[in-house]
Amino acid sequence: MTVRLEGFHAVKHALRFAPELVDCVTVNDIEAVRRLAAQLAPDVIELLLERATVGEVEHPTGVEGLARRPAEDRNILTTRRTPLVLLDEPRHPGNAGAVVRVAAAAGASGVAMTGTLDPWHPAVVRGSAGLHFALPVLRVAAAEVAGPLIVLDAEGGQFDTVPDDAVLVIGSERSGVGSELRARADAVVRLPMRPGVSSLNLATATAAVLYAWRLTHRN
Ligand SMILES: C[S@@+](CC[C@H](N)C(=O)[O-])C[C@H]1O[C@@H](n2cnc3c(N)ncnc32)[C@H](O)[C@@H]1O
Repeated sequence: MTVRLEGFHAVKHALRFAPELVDCVTVNDIEAVRRLAAQLAPDVIELLLERATVGEVEHPTGVEGLARRPAEDRNILTTRRTPLVLLDEPRHPGNAGAVVRVAAAAGASGVAMTGTLDPWHPAVVRGSAGLHFALPVLRVAAAEVAGPLIVLDAEGGQFDTVPDDAVLVIGSERSGVGSELRARADAVVRLPMRPGVSSLNLATATAAVLYAWRLTHRN
């Protein structure tokens, strides 16, 4: 299936992590893009220019692309060496994209999502800056995911360590983690907050817990 890459950063990361999947790049102005790449990502200049054709581009960076989705690795749903992030029915593409971005940065095994949001929607890929190409990103049914299930909830118990093979379950913007995953939780934990603050944004909560794991287990 084809994935639209909107903007320089999405194209850059797709080229860096999966160049074989990037079929074409459209640019407003070859020289301007060459300068941008020289400044921000010299490692991908050659890959970018060999695919680039000049055309109309809406994105303000003057760069767009088309790529193919990687083959799905569903093994991470049951076996993994680093935490898997499971978003339970996320609604906002920008939030889901921000989760993919931090999951890639922190070295998570992948990002799985339940619900109706297409994890590969162009707005989600834009939100991840194209880091979908750095780790598996899948739509799943909650029942497919196995392992120590740690549900993140502002009303949960005290945060403990995160096992390397944990499934970190993060709830939706409006209603948090649903009953199906809650019923299977090995732990329901909170990130402490100052009194009066109701909750963190879901991508912020994901970042905090992934880096709590990363900084203690994988310096
Ligand atoms: C915006 S919050 C959802 C708020 C929602 N009204 C609720 O009832 O949970 C999105 C998700 O981020 C995570 N989250 C936000 N703040 C958190 C906190 N302080 N501790 C643990 N998880 C948190 C939870 O997984 C939550 O479901």
